[in-house]
Amino acid sequence: MEKNRFLHIEREVKPFSPTYEAWITHIMGREVVVDMGCGHGDFLIEKTAQYPESFFVGIEISRKRVAKTSHRLSKRGRENYAVIHGDGEWALKTFFPTESVSEIHINFPDPWLRKRHWKNRLLRPSFVLQVIRVLKKGGRVFFVTDVEEYARYASEVLLQFPWLRSVYPDIVVQNLYTRFPTLFYQKMSPLRPINYVCFERWVDFP
Ligand SMILES: C[S@@+](CC[C@H](N)C(=O)[O-])C[C@H]1O[C@@H](n2cnc3c(N)ncnc32)[C@H](O)[C@@H]1O
Repeated sequence: MEKNRFLHIEREVKPFSPTYEAWITHIMGREVVVDMGCGHGDFLIEKTAQYPESFFVGIEISRKRVAKTSHRLSKRGRENYAVIHGDGEWALKTFFPTESVSEIHINFPDPWLRKRHWKNRLLRPSFVLQVIRVLKKGGRVFFVTDVEEYARYASEVLLQFPWLRSVYPDIVVQNLYTRFPTLFYQKMSPLRPINYVCFERWVDFP
């Protein structure tokens, strides 16, 4: 168990709490952008300033990192964000009504390189079903990784769902940007090409 599990975190949303009810009212009708596995919050620091009208939600399985993300955002005076501590698939199921999200960003998810560990990958069919459910029509899921094999694997999983279609001309595009605001981009981009995948929910959910 993590030592700081009970630490108070600003703008954290938890199930079965007064903030939960207010949360649902708060996100409905807004441009909601999710950063899945937000790490230390660099992506959110840049995007909350760049898009002040949007509402950003950082989801992270490490409580220490959730605390750090929230602290860094609040120190900068950002108000257009919330954080959720927990597994990404559970968070989508628990906190997001159908068709409530405009964008989901999955930046440098843990790759679980060995084939026998692929079952631990965040991007799996049950996760994608939640992605499709929560995305608005026209909403997009962005997937960025330094592991080309994971980008190809993710595209294959996403392509299995007819409600989604690839946005970029090639399903996996390498080195789309020369700068990208995450810690892992900084670490990995000098070492190998970065792979970008983007899918859009283009038809109504059944
Ligand atoms: C390689 S780091 C990338 C962090 C950040 N997105 C970046 O690009 O710098 C992967 C992050 O995903 C988080 N993570 C791993 N599995 C997760 C899950 N099932 N749900 C939510 N977050 C998860 C990890 O704790 C870690 O912070």
